[in-house]
Amino acid sequence: MEKIYFYLPTKVFFEKGGIEKYLPQIKNYGNKFLIVSGRNFIFRSGLFERIKNILEKERIEFSHFSNVKPEPDTENVEEGVEFCKKEGCDCIVAIGGGSAIDVGKAIALRSKNSGRIENYFGEKEYENEPLPVIAIPTTCGTGSEVTRYSVLVYRKENTKKTIISDRIIPKVAILDSSVLDTLPESLVAATGMDAFSHSAESFLSVKKDKLSEIFSIESLKILWEFLPSAVKGDDESKEKVFFSSLLAGFAINKTGTIIVHGIGYSLTVKYGIHHGTANALLLPYVFKYLYKNGYREEIERLGNIFGKVENIKNFVKKLGLPVRLKDIGVKEDDIDELVKLSKTGCERALKNMKIKEIDFREILISAF
Ligand SMILES: [Fe+2]
Repeated sequence: MEKIYFYLPTKVFFEKGGIEKYLPQIKNYGNKFLIVSGRNFIFRSGLFERIKNILEKERIEFSHFSNVKPEPDTENVEEGVEFCKKEGCDCIVAIGGGSAIDVGKAIALRSKNSGRIENYFGEKEYENEPLPVIAIPTTCGTGSEVTRYSVLVYRKENTKKTIISDRIIPKVAILDSSVLDTLPESLVAATGMDAFSHSAESFLSVKKDKLSEIFSIESLKILWEFLPSAVKGDDESKEKVFFSSLLAGFAINKTGTIIVHGIGYSLTVKYGIHHGTANALLLPYVFKYLYKNGYREEIERLGNIFGKVENIKNFVKKLGLPVRLKDIGVKEDDIDELVKLSKTGCERALKNMKIKEIDFREILISAF
């Protein structure tokens, strides 16, 4: 049998109402906690009050950095690092979607290591152990609660770049599906499709193995069956989608993603398109291209779940997400720049692919 290397160091609690039950355990990881979150959802949803009540009852000391931006950049992380140091926190509790969790991981690393966060892009060695991270995801897509990645916008290069390090994988992940009660339908769709993209891309990565395959296939099956009803608000389906996003996280933690994410970064940086929406839009076109260029066998295997690639496009459309670049405000004249941005955005993705030459223009024109 082929060799397998798999590393899953996160203690995972998947339980409705789990926040009340398991949050007190963070005491084992530090003395003063930095809650890292965005500015809106955590307050609007009542989640902050919930967390605050538990922490106060348990006499757990904390500060709150609530300024994570929707597409956080390196500056945003540095701001968080300064706050963390000023407040003397020694453990991060990241609450939110991928943005908050990724920023939490980056703050954890940078607070204990010098320089600027951009020095740590890629798979860099560094001296000091990052602060421990506890992750509480509030969307059903990121998977970041169990991965070694922190993806940040890097303005200098007009793209998103990734820190890759086993040492920033969260120590604890609490997946409490009650947080999805107030998640807008459009975000269930977009983040669910991010998970879909993680699993589908993972399956095409050269780094996949028998174990990552189990996670990605199971996650795709669940999403294909339950994402539409989750988007319509069915609680049980939402919980299933939440579970599938966790599985997809395990899968990409091993394999990374490929060019759907790489090209998607350019749409997010240039047009501010939600990360999951960008992936959902691009996925069918990228898969059609790859089907003709070296990935026929893999995509046919995935076809056991969704049939023809064209069906993914209809699926995305039914979820209420855009399926053409035109629909998100891309002009035909922008394609040249998007090709350039995609090349930069895909540098890392290409390492996970068996073909190294990609005709980005062909993909983008077909998606237009
Ligand atoms: Fe993603």
